[in-house]
Amino acid sequence: MSFNRISAAEAASLIKHGYNIGLSGFTPAGTAKAVTAELAKIAEAEHAKGNPFQVGIFTGASTGESCDGVLTRAKAIRYRAPYTTNKDFRAAVNNGEIAYNDIHLSQMAQELRYGFMGKVNVAIIEACEVTDDGKIYLTAAGGIAPTVCRLADQIIVELNAAHSKAAMRLHDVYEPLDPPYRREIPIYKPNDRIGTPYIQVDPKKIVGIVETNWPDEARAFSAADPVTDQIGRNVADFLVADMKRGIIPSTFLPLQSGVGNIANAVLGALGHSTAIPAFNIYTEVIQNAVIGLIRDGRVKFASGCSLTVTNDCLNEVYSDMQFFGDKLVLRPSEISNSPEIVRRLGIISINTAIEADIYGNVNSTHIGGTKMMNGIGGSGDFTRNAYISIFTCPSVTKEGRISAIVPMVSHHDHSEHDVNIIVTEQGVADLRGKSPKERAQTIIENCVHPDYKNILWDYLKLTDGKAQTPHAIRAALGMHAELAKSGDMRNTDWAQYA
Ligand code: COA
Repeated sequence: MSFNRISAAEAASLIKHGYNIGLSGFTPAGTAKAVTAELAKIAEAEHAKGNPFQVGIFTGASTGESCDGVLTRAKAIRYRAPYTTNKDFRAAVNNGEIAYNDIHLSQMAQELRYGFMGKVNVAIIEACEVTDDGKIYLTAAGGIAPTVCRLADQIIVELNAAHSKAAMRLHDVYEPLDPPYRREIPIYKPNDRIGTPYIQVDPKKIVGIVETNWPDEARAFSAADPVTDQIGRNVADFLVADMKRGIIPSTFLPLQSGVGNIANAVLGALGHSTAIPAFNIYTEVIQNAVIGLIRDGRVKFASGCSLTVTNDCLNEVYSDMQFFGDKLVLRPSEISNSPEIVRRLGIISINTAIEADIYGNVNSTHIGGTKMMNGIGGSGDFTRNAYISIFTCPSVTKEGRISAIVPMVSHHDHSEHDVNIIVTEQGVADLRGKSPKERAQTIIENCVHPDYKNILWDYLKLTDGKAQTPHAIRAALGMHAELAKSGDMRNTDWAQYA
């Protein structure tokens, strides 16, 4: 069967107001681009005529500017799940314009299959190859592509020449059965392959192929700074010490590391540590730093959901599959982030917090308790099931006006029951095996910025000091209230709550 070649505009015209569209990709890597960019134009034209035009969007994780960016500005998104990082999208969500369902990334595909979010009308899948019998070869990410291909009535393929056909070797596509038929996912080592390198679809569902040449829209991260470097060193020193104590096996354990500058600094520090043997990565997002560490022989194998790397780095991988082919695999997000696998492999998880409280609860998603930042991403998938779960953050932000350690988090993503270690540039708080009162002591002593230590010790004096988790409930969000009032948590005066 040979498929219709259609333009991106023709493909977008198949999508109607009220549809739910399912997208390939995970981060800007591997996300459809051309059709969504045209869809935004259709929405704008319909709005100009006074007609409603909005769709629901199901993705693996964040997307790029030509999806979340243009569609948000065109007011074309009614509903979206899960994670996103787009600035305009964030503003629209916090303005009440978009219904945003921020769920754990490992759960996205199965919640679609379970029918929690409604029908998938059209799947838009970026591919580096598609065969007449319906084999779709993905590009730089796994995401939820296998599931949306299966659930959608129609599939549009963006055949993107900016991705080399070398990407065909990268993927291991596997979709578990749903309960009550689900079995174990048979991954016992980070490099186990359990599926096929392609998604098999019914070719009759492919309504058109859009040929594009559109590079991924991944951002380069800003240069490391002394604070993130220090956090990276603190994490590396902590892990070396745990290995020397025999808590981490001498062969080391696979690492999951979040996204962004701190994650890059942590990986850099681990990569340079002579005390840590070459290790494996089992994570969701593979960043530039990992590719460098594979080159250097410091990372033996990396399993992820996406290659969220700069385009020069991506091309380096594509052009040297001889070297990278047996050192990388890309999986669907429900496999890369599978709680079952995380617990089986004994993954050490390292993610970034917006704020943490003195008892070890972590907020990863909300600013000031109400405004969405990005979303929980995969941090919960890994943290809850990790061998050791680590959260990192600078001890202060906004020139010291905000402390990342507060009496009570203003929004709750990861609970005290799941968080093992908190690391700032000030030091490391090891919460394992400690009661809440012991945790408060170690967090304030080791992680809090000097400007805030006395404020937090004084907070504890407001409590009865005896309860399982001592709090002065009226004052618990007092530092946040002070920030809202004077713009600086350092002005907190507990006398008003005494
Ligand atoms: N109160 C108010 N603002 C805060 C804050 C706080 N407690 N902590 C951070 N911020 C602000 C920063 O000042 C910064 O603002 P700016 O954009 O105006 O400069 C912004 O939030 C981002 O902070 P930054 O220190 O640059 O963090 P980051 O880019 O490393 O991102 C998270 C941190 C938590 C937002 C990000 O890691 C995230 O979205 N995590 C959740 C998902 C996740 O963990 N994914 C990985 C799983 S595999």
